[in-house]
Amino acid sequence: MDIPAGVVAALALWPIKSDGARHAQLLTDFFAAQPADTWPGTVREATAAHWVRRPDLISTAAPILRWAEDEHSPDLLYAVRAVALTALKHGVLFHTGASDPAMRSDTDLMSWTITALRHRGDRAWLGEFHTPPELAEAMNRIAIGDNPPTVSSLYECAGGTGGMFRVAAQHLRERNVDPQRWTWHLQELDPVAAAGAAVNFLIWDLGPKATVACGNTLSQPDLYERSLGDRAELDELRDRLVGRAATAAAHLRVLRTLGDLGVSAPRPPARESSQSAA
Ligand SMILES: C[S@@+](CC[C@H](N)C(=O)[O-])C[C@H]1O[C@@H](n2cnc3c(N)ncnc32)[C@H](O)[C@@H]1O
Repeated sequence: MDIPAGVVAALALWPIKSDGARHAQLLTDFFAAQPADTWPGTVREATAAHWVRRPDLISTAAPILRWAEDEHSPDLLYAVRAVALTALKHGVLFHTGASDPAMRSDTDLMSWTITALRHRGDRAWLGEFHTPPELAEAMNRIAIGDNPPTVSSLYECAGGTGGMFRVAAQHLRERNVDPQRWTWHLQELDPVAAAGAAVNFLIWDLGPKATVACGNTLSQPDLYERSLGDRAELDELRDRLVGRAATAAAHLRVLRTLGDLGVSAPRPPARESSQSAA
C-alpha cells in the first residue's frame, strides 16, 4: 500500500498551486498524458520541493515516498500509472491544488486513501477508525470554542492521519486565527499513517511548529522531544547540502562567464607528493 498511497501523496503535494478549476484541469490533463515510466520521477520532484522546506516531515513521509528511488518493472509502473489516473479522475488536484491552504483542507485525503487500502484485519488491530468530520467539528467547537487564542498548542497522542487537526485548523481560520501560529504535534504508531499525517500537514500548511512523530505513545514518553531533535538534525543537514549546492552553482556561473569571455578555466594545482596531499 506504500506505492498507491505515495502516488496520491505526490499528486496532492505537487508544488505548483493555483486558484480555479481551469488550472486544476490543465494539470490533470498534463499528468494523465504522462507515460508510466515517468511516474517515479514525478514523485521524486514533488518530494524534493517539500524536502527543502521541511526535511523532517518528508523524512516521516518516507515510507510512502521512498519507493520512487528504486528501479521498477514495466508491470509495476503500469499499476502506478493506473493508480494515478484513478486519483486524477476522482479530482485529487481539485481537492489539493488551490494556493489557499483553507481550500486544500476540505478533506482528509490521506485518511481516505490509507484506510481504503488497508486490510480490514490490520485496521481492526490498529484501531484505525478515524473520527468522522462532523463529530470532529462538534468536538473542536467544544474544545476550542468561538474565541480561540492567537497562539496555542494541540497534541494528538494517537493521531491517525491528523483529521482532528484538519478540522481544528479550519475552525481557527473561520475565526480569523492563523493556524501557522499554533503548535501542532501528532504521534502515530503506524508508519504509513504517520507518513499520511506528514503529507497532510504539508497540504494543510499547518506551519513551522507542526511536527509528526512515528512511535508508540504508551512506551515512548519522549516522542515529542525526539521529533524536535530529529528536526534540528535534518534542518542542519539540509542547510549543509543546500549550501554546497549554492557553492557549486556559483563556481559553474564563474566558469561559464570565463568561457563566454574566451578565458579557459584554470586547472586545479597538481599534487606534489602523496605526503603533502595528505
Ligand atoms: C481510532 S484512530 C483515531 C485517529 C484520530 N485520533 C482520529 O480521531 O481520527 C487510533 C489511531 O491510533 C493509533 N495508535 C494505536 N495505538 C497507538 C499507540 N500506542 N501509540 C500511538 N498511536 C497509536 C492507530 O494506529 C490509529 O491510527
